[in-house]
This record gives sequence, C-alpha cells and structure tokens, in this order.
Amino acid sequence: MTIEQNVSLKNYNTFGIESTAEYFVSVTSVAELKEVLPTNEKELFILGGGSNMLLTKDIKGLVLHLNLKGIEVQKQNNDHVEITCMAGENWHEFVLYCIDKNYGGLENLSLIPGNVGTSPIQNIGAYGVELKDTFVRCNAVEIATGKEHTFTNAACDFGYRTSIFKTSEKGKFIITSVTFSLTTKNHDHSVSYGAIKDELAKQHISAATIKDISNAVIAIRKSKLPDPAELGNSGSFFKNPVVDAETFRNFKIKFPEAPYYEVTNTTFKIPAGWLIEQAGFKGKRFGDAGVHKNQALVLVNYGNATGKEIWDVAMKIQKKVRKDFGIFIEPEVNIF
Ligand code: EPU
Repeated sequence: MTIEQNVSLKNYNTFGIESTAEYFVSVTSVAELKEVLPTNEKELFILGGGSNMLLTKDIKGLVLHLNLKGIEVQKQNNDHVEITCMAGENWHEFVLYCIDKNYGGLENLSLIPGNVGTSPIQNIGAYGVELKDTFVRCNAVEIATGKEHTFTNAACDFGYRTSIFKTSEKGKFIITSVTFSLTTKNHDHSVSYGAIKDELAKQHISAATIKDISNAVIAIRKSKLPDPAELGNSGSFFKNPVVDAETFRNFKIKFPEAPYYEVTNTTFKIPAGWLIEQAGFKGKRFGDAGVHKNQALVLVNYGNATGKEIWDVAMKIQKKVRKDFGIFIEPEVNIF
C-alpha cells in the first residue's frame, strides 16, 4: 500500500472527468483500510466505483480508493443462500456471478454501474426492484475511529434512492462488504414492469428464467442508457421529483398527457426524464457536455467536458424545468 501524489482521477469516475487527487491510496483489504483509518489527514475523499459523482474541481487531501475484492457464501438452506460481496467488486459482475450460480433476486438490477459497496448508499433500484429487497446487512468501518460496525436492513432506513448513509450517517462510514439473501429455487420473478414484459414478449419468452430477465434488462438498458466506457455519464443525473397532491392536481390539469406514478395517496412521482424532454433538452449538446438522446435524465460527457461544464448544463435544466412546470428537480449524483 503506497500513498501517491498528484494522481489523475479521469479513469476512476464514469463521467470521465479530469480531476487531480493531491494524495491517493488504494486499499485491498479491511486490514489495510484500518491502517489508514483513523487518519490525521483533514480532507478524506472516499472513492468507490466513481459511477455516481461529478467532480467539478481537483480533490485536496487524500483520496482513498476502495479496492476490496471477494465473494463468499455464508450459509445456504433449502431455498435461500446468504452471500457476502466485498465493496470493491463491480456491481454488474456480481449480479452476473449470482445469475450464473442460479441465485435469484438481483437480475432486475443488471448493468447498473458502480461497485457493490456503494449500492446501499442510494439503495439502487431499477425495473420494480430495489437493493433493499435482498439486502441483509453491510459491514462498515467508522472513519473517525477505524472501528467496524454492522448495519442490518432496518438500521439502514432505506427509501427511494436513499439510506442513512445519505442522511444521518452521511460521510461517517466506509462500507466494506454487503450481504444479500438470494433464492436458489422458486425465484420470485419481478417482471410486472412494462418494459421487461415487452422485451420478454419480443423475444418470445413466456416462462422467464432469471438469466432471461437479466438479458431483457440488459437489452433495455443498452437501448436507453449510454455505456460509460463509450460515453462518459453517471446514469440518472436527477431524481424523479415527488410532489404533493395539490401540486400534482395543478400539474395534471396543465399536462394531462404526463406520465406519473402514485407513491402514496397524497404523493406522486413525476419522471424527471419527461420534464427535461418537454423542456427541450433531450439530445442537446453544449460543447462537450450534453443530454443523452434516448434518456433525458442522463447527462453525458462527449470527450473533454469539465465537471463545471456538466454542472452548468444541469443548472440550466433545473432552472428551465422549474420555470416551465413549477417543479424542482434535484441531482441524484454527488457533486464535488
Ligand atoms: N421519459 C421521457 N423522456 C425521457 C426519459 C423518460 O418522456 O427522455 C418518460 C418515459 O417515457 C416514461 C417515464 O419517463 O414514461 C419513466 O422513464 P423510465 O422508465 O426510463 O425510468 P426513469 O424514471 O426515467 C428510473 C431510474 C433509472 C432506472 C429506470 C428503470 C431514477 C432517478 N432513475 O428512470 O435508474 O434504470 O427508472 O427502472 O429513479 C440510475 O439511477 O442511474 C438509473 C438509470
């Protein structure tokens, strides 16, 4: 384990933004992590898969890259397996590993960018399934003390794209591993989400296996979402706004054609992608920063955009959506 100086972070963030770390260290085990923590370094920047962040400046202090690897079955009974994955494993590769072993529960979350360790922070979700549905617990090291803690599913207080790691415990812990409970038979296929149903029908599949569902999700995501290896991006840049009943009523009168989901009797989620498209930004390009042509919720880096340029586009969008619809959309990605 060596601490390097002035390291480029371009290959460590899926937006492909140039930014320099003053100091940089990559840890490959919990023991190494505990050698670094607690640290006297005043500014500590935790780097996982770099898939949910926008770097708008150079990073002062120490960048701590979590490169913890390994997958281990903890226990198995008649129809379930409890499996632990280290934080530095790539999320999609872990999903594929599980599908290969016929462990069900994560197939709808195929191809989500990022690492396993960051998946609980925002309770990743797609196509009707969220991480919290199979999450058992995670282990984490407290930054201030270097002590290990375990968080159960209930303790994480998961919500839509959120958990305690984004609220009360924000910036206090480093997740080192995540344990899931997955099915080994009688998989609970979640195929009600329209796009999955359509894709399976297109492929003439009636009794879908978890592999079929994963393949359908991969096909849908590939058709809508750009591959960060080809076009820098961070997935959905904004969260879908959740509005109250009165705001929703007024909105629906003016825009009866708008898609929406009822969250509770009194709260409604409106797709930010729709708002951004209606506001005229879909496929728009401003220098090397832009809005994806197939999914307006995704901002992209065409090559050499700076983080500041991407941020300026995001703010332009936020302002116009507020002006056109009276609705405030907030970023889902972390801004530094
Ligand atoms: N829409 C548009 N224009 C667009 C994009 C979307 O009109 O440019 C409309 C669609 O027609 C549809 C609705 O908006 O009626 C919802 O679109 P979609 O099903 O693509 O889902 P989303 O709400 O835009 C969310 C997640 C995605 C996830 C998909 C599928 C958030 C912030 N995003 O997007 O997550 O893949 O659902 O479940 O909740 C991510 O977090 O990085 C991500 C990609």
